[in-house]
Amino acid sequence: MPMRSSLTSFASCDTDFLVIGGGIAGLRAALELARHGQVLVVTKGDPAESNTFYAQGGIAVALNDDDHVDLHFTDTVKAGHQLCYEPAAKILVEEGLARVQELIEWGARFDTIDGQLAFTNEGAHSRRRILRAGGDATGGEMVRVLLGQVRREPTIQWLGSHFSVDLLIRSGQCRGALVLDERSRAFLLITARAVVLATGGAGQVYARTTNPSGATGDGMAMALRAGAILQDMEFVQFHPTALYLPSSPPFLISETLRGEGGILRNRSGERFMSRYDPDGELASRDVVARAIWSEMLRTKSPHVYLDVTHLGATFVKKRFPSIYATCLRFDIDITEEWIPVAPSAHYMMGGVKTGLDGETTVPGLFAAGEVACTGVHGANRLASNSLLEGLVFGVRAARAAAAFVPQEGQASLSLPLLECDPRRSHMFSDREKVRRSLRRLMWTKVGLVRSEEALQRACAQLAQWEQTSPTFPVTRDEMELSNLIQVGRCIAEAALWRRNSIGAHFRKDFPSTDDPSWNHHSRSVRTMASSPNRSSSVQAG
Ligand code: SIN
Repeated sequence: MPMRSSLTSFASCDTDFLVIGGGIAGLRAALELARHGQVLVVTKGDPAESNTFYAQGGIAVALNDDDHVDLHFTDTVKAGHQLCYEPAAKILVEEGLARVQELIEWGARFDTIDGQLAFTNEGAHSRRRILRAGGDATGGEMVRVLLGQVRREPTIQWLGSHFSVDLLIRSGQCRGALVLDERSRAFLLITARAVVLATGGAGQVYARTTNPSGATGDGMAMALRAGAILQDMEFVQFHPTALYLPSSPPFLISETLRGEGGILRNRSGERFMSRYDPDGELASRDVVARAIWSEMLRTKSPHVYLDVTHLGATFVKKRFPSIYATCLRFDIDITEEWIPVAPSAHYMMGGVKTGLDGETTVPGLFAAGEVACTGVHGANRLASNSLLEGLVFGVRAARAAAAFVPQEGQASLSLPLLECDPRRSHMFSDREKVRRSLRRLMWTKVGLVRSEEALQRACAQLAQWEQTSPTFPVTRDEMELSNLIQVGRCIAEAALWRRNSIGAHFRKDFPSTDDPSWNHHSRSVRTMASSPNRSSSVQAG
């Protein structure tokens, strides 16, 4: 692969604001930015293929009569095991009220009972506060409503099937991005006053994930290369219940099934959760996922079961139409049979470190949604807080981006990838094989239960892959693989650094959960080694 020596060889265009990513945070940010200038939204692949679209359970908001934002705040901080940044959690629950009401005004059809909003329950919530749409298709409804609003805004342009390669930097500020047209394979240089990163998570770094194929951590890797700090990367949420069938992907079986009374059973049929936590099936997600893992090991079974047969066929079909239909496609009638389930990587609590207005450590670069780490989720996200986070911090990041005034200097634009060491311009001989091995390595060595030895092995292998990955990848597949390796390495290094167990991060060699000396955050930064964009190192933050 020839190295590109300058940016002038690329076609270019200019906009006021560039939004990368078309999930709930990106769409909400774009709507806000549309009041302030021209907005270009860039998404890879199909614009509807965001994590948001697949969200089943719902959106948590303290709108029920017996609820209050203070209770929602307390539940959020408790689930986050005191590692939440409390000002961010407060903003989430308080501003979330207006953001959800606004969605309703825009036509969001949340499910109702007798004309009133229907609230359901999920683990670690002290009140029924989860709104849903279409039973178990909440994300699709969010995307429908927000896309409808976006289409009405003449100042918002949309560029689908464009993969963001790298962020453009001038005088230490982010001024746009280089993108690849996935169809023509031409590169396009987009310059902007400010950039909002809303690229979602990185579930594809693991062999088992509920995330769609596009969740490859591109935004996190790009931000790291551009000099931004990643925070709390060791905190990966494993959803307790994804469908476990050799013939199916790990399709999400929503926590709201347990919220409505679903029971977890081991292979002997025993209801086991009360042995692990007094809250049983509705303990926090990290606790339930690890309890299932222990039962799987104890009973030598690759899964446990979720039983909803006692809820009644009419209720189950109406309340969970998508889950019912999907399981039936795999020959499981959930009204009559127990569902085989096992944990799967689901959500990144860590990400690009931001302040309360989505500002990253790189001026001009803002981040919102799963790609960002505002600290709102701490060590474990409270169920159904993520759609709310996308709305609340999408707006805040957009307002801050609109107010950002770049310093115009003489320096030319640069691209972190172009600074890399050309001696390393190897190609993987078998990309697919490396991708599979990477996902297996992360699952077995950086998964639900971790140890020093396994993490060290993972770090060594990831470092080796990073040395041999292409320095300037030219296809979407190559770029995704490079990003997966970089993000995987940040997760593994942060997990190795944190020598205690808290929330979603469990070290069997350091099982203590109440060590106050670990009450701080990990920060992954690009190191200035011979190849500046390559390596990361973890520090206490
Ligand atoms: C679910 O429906 O179980 C997922 C909701 C979430 O991740 O918050």
